[in-house]
Amino acid sequence: MAVSFELIKQCSKTGARAGKLYTPHGVFETPIFMPVGTQATVKAMTPDELKAMGAGIILSNTYHLFLRPGHELVAEAGGLHGFMHWDRGILTDSGGFQVFSLGSLRKISEEGVAFRSHIDGSKQFLSPEKATEVQMALGADIIMAFDECVPYPAEYDYARQSTERTTRWAERCKRAHARKDQALFGIIQGGMYKELRTASVRDLVSLDFPGYAIGGLSVGEPKPLMYEMLEHTVPQLPARKPRYLMGVGTPDCLVEGVMYGIDMFDCVFPTRVARNGTAMTASGRLVVKNAEFARDFRPLDMDCDCYTCRNFSRAYIRHLLKSEEILGLRLTTIHNLHFLLRFMGKMRQAIMEDRFPAFRQEFWDKYQGH
Ligand code: GUN
Ligand code: ZN
Repeated sequence: MAVSFELIKQCSKTGARAGKLYTPHGVFETPIFMPVGTQATVKAMTPDELKAMGAGIILSNTYHLFLRPGHELVAEAGGLHGFMHWDRGILTDSGGFQVFSLGSLRKISEEGVAFRSHIDGSKQFLSPEKATEVQMALGADIIMAFDECVPYPAEYDYARQSTERTTRWAERCKRAHARKDQALFGIIQGGMYKELRTASVRDLVSLDFPGYAIGGLSVGEPKPLMYEMLEHTVPQLPARKPRYLMGVGTPDCLVEGVMYGIDMFDCVFPTRVARNGTAMTASGRLVVKNAEFARDFRPLDMDCDCYTCRNFSRAYIRHLLKSEEILGLRLTTIHNLHFLLRFMGKMRQAIMEDRFPAFRQEFWDKYQGH
């Protein structure tokens, strides 16, 4: 198989682990954070800039690319890799999550989801087979099964029926998938119900996917509840396959996710808040737009060695953001991604040296809010 996972080291006291993910576009060390490039671009970054900060895999979205520019056009361009000039790893999400967040614009049936395009209002349909066909055309290294993200909160009966349908859809995705150079991951659902999470793991593991994502978390539930679900769910997954926690990317949740045994993460958080003028640091968020930084000539983060922090001050970046200069959001995006990727690297090193619990303690001693 063209995508495989090697477990390199396990923490002796927690579930944390270090591994290697082998793909047709390179080998990537885990735990890994995948920057989000929804529309075949990580907003404001060139591929060379992403490489310079050590990004390995990026995430892109089936839903958006299916609607615009269309998967046939992307396939003509040589797939996503050729189209966007990115020769490292790509993972595409299946479209399930995006379609379900359309609210009243969509209708779910056993067959799939009918919805209206958020771009031009046209009628569209995605099913497990269609989402898999689109993802085969886009040609990412890792693709995701078409699922329903159980909303929070959800009644038990709804969560159970939805989770069982997601399992049937996963089976259909597997049957429709026919690219040996691509890995198709299953997505565990189950809402906030432990027995549904257990059933979801059991049923998806029996389908034997090369990797498993945990979906339906970080959807508005309190963080302790998310951690409880992870503690319950992750140990039931096969140890030798990669585990991906979808939509999580604040430093506190990354540390806790790694502790429970997650290998892969993605989130719009670092890039989105960057464009709002917020820098991520080891002690929490720094809102550089705030007046207190008008005459602050220090870098965004005193401990950071990114291009932004080596060359520019808080005062200058604040000025750019206030003046709505494009460079402002490019500089904050560079910093946030660099910060988070380096943070993952430090966690991996701590796991390799079997001192992850001490790393985690030091993190929590410094971190305020999120
Ligand atoms: N992104 C964040 N959560 C989810 C989820 O539950 N399913 C999918 N497909 N994508 C997600
Ligand atoms: Zn920096």
